[in-house]
Amino acid sequence: MVKICCIGAGYVGGPTMAVIALKCPSIQVAVVDISISRINAWNSDQLPIYEPGLDGVVKECRGRNLFFSTDVEKHVSEADIVFVSVNTPTKTQGLGAGKAADLTYWESAARMIADVSKSNKIVVEKSTVPVKTAEAIEKILTHNSKGIKFQILSNPEFLAEGTAIRDLLSPDRVLIGGRETPEGQAAIKALKDVYAKWVPEDRILTTNLWSAELSKLAANAFLAQRISSVNAMSALCEATGADVTEVSYAVGKDTRIGPKFLNASVGFGGSCFQKDILNLVYICECNGLPDVAEYWKQVIKINDYQKNRFVNRVVSSMFNTVSNKKIAILGFAFKKDTGDTRETPAIDVCKGLLGDKARLSIYDPQVTDDQIQRDLTMKKFDWDHPLHLQPMSPTTVKQVSVVWDAYEATKDAHGLCILTEWDEFKTLDYQKIYDKMQKPAFVFDGRNVVNVEKLREIGFIVYSIGKPLDAWLKDMPAVA
Ligand code: UDX
Ligand code: UDX
Ligand code: ADP
Repeated sequence: MVKICCIGAGYVGGPTMAVIALKCPSIQVAVVDISISRINAWNSDQLPIYEPGLDGVVKECRGRNLFFSTDVEKHVSEADIVFVSVNTPTKTQGLGAGKAADLTYWESAARMIADVSKSNKIVVEKSTVPVKTAEAIEKILTHNSKGIKFQILSNPEFLAEGTAIRDLLSPDRVLIGGRETPEGQAAIKALKDVYAKWVPEDRILTTNLWSAELSKLAANAFLAQRISSVNAMSALCEATGADVTEVSYAVGKDTRIGPKFLNASVGFGGSCFQKDILNLVYICECNGLPDVAEYWKQVIKINDYQKNRFVNRVVSSMFNTVSNKKIAILGFAFKKDTGDTRETPAIDVCKGLLGDKARLSIYDPQVTDDQIQRDLTMKKFDWDHPLHLQPMSPTTVKQVSVVWDAYEATKDAHGLCILTEWDEFKTLDYQKIYDKMQKPAFVFDGRNVVNVEKLREIGFIVYSIGKPLDAWLKDMPAVA
């Protein structure tokens, strides 16, 4: 029986291993983590992450061929294939601060693998890492190996949160990079055999190590670039009277461009896009390619511009001040169908409004009060460290209250901002909301989910990203 161990029971490790266990009953899969609370949650009815379909998969496999444990060393030493899916934060100090990946957790995982291994192993890079990390890890493993042979593979994960189970069950492609030696090729085949249990052969791509590593950074950079491109267009649409939804639709009809990932928004968030692009920028700079670095930096600049622009719209529409005004924030997660708030645009928008002394009432169906307070008090890039190492936020932001209902959040508010595209925000009773709000009542839709015309009929002053402005907003231009 093949034994797999995955180090890191997070958003990637947990769902990925659950699906491998589901599809490969003859493989024993152990997911290990240094966080006791995280492992306890994986072993309970309240999984540590909210992901549609995940509960069912875990229930079916847990205790059969899927195990969650804190006994990292035991499971690593017994495994034939070790996946590494630990945090790779952006460095906050020292060389490359604010850009380069901090490989502390990766390196400590690699040293531990070398230390406890008593048999040959395939070590699989699952978390996104800078190109050539595999080479560095290979060196750590071979220099500490005590005669044991390690083959390193890069097998980046392309799942998106909210659709993780669907993406894992039916991936566009699985990418496996390895050494071009006979041993490297044998390792590639061993991992390919695992995926081949449910993924069609022609979707399993094999490359050299560096192509696999770079493909992951490139894919995320391209995706983020599409969003920054459409968001840049949204600003121009507002200035000219074009409608970004119509423009996106028309552009996406070109089969060379395609319709997906062209929704204008208040900005992209999530644990990957910004981090991976910063990483790409750093790698370009280190390789003497400043023009290429500059090109990719623009994707992040436009994303920051979009978030600032949104805050400026809110403030300028309300007579240039939101001081002491109650503003409802609907949605805090970085996208719908997840409770994840890593790099969510809501953090920057809320901080911007708080900077103008607004009082915020925040509602998200999946994000807790604690998490929101932690996010609003944490320093940039500090989120990507193992949870148990993060101090609980010592202070809370007084002007922020977190409530469990959209109607409660909007009661007596001057304005409401939609920052996540949760389906339930489309079907709220906006007449009821309007009746209980201060007048004039404003809606700022950062996700283009509301019916602008209907809301204007009710009496709202509505701003929706990239849509023709109503007269009120035209009179109060916001400059980012
Ligand atoms: C383009 C648009 O495709 C077309 O829709 C519009 O109406 C006019 O402009 P055209 O300039 O004729 O058409 O050719 P196109 O096939 O788009 O190629 C433009 C340039 O891009 C060429 O120099 C081509 O060699 C280059 N190109 C295209 C690449 O370098 N790589 C590619 O993957 C595709
Ligand atoms: C992304 C990649 O999609 C995935 O392949 C990779 O493995 C990890 O990073 P994820 O961050 O989970 O996945 O979500 P994604 O659906 O890509 O959305 C990222 C952000 O872009 C979200 O904030 C989302 O709201 C935003 N977005 C997405 C838009 O603003 N407009 C769009 O059209 C699409
Ligand atoms: P991702 O979104 O990439 O899955 P997460 O932050 O959700 O990232 O998960 C990474 C997990 O890795 C965390 O639960 C963290 O506790 C765990 N981790 C980090 N370093 C180690 C280590 N050396 N050994 C075991 N687990 C680790």
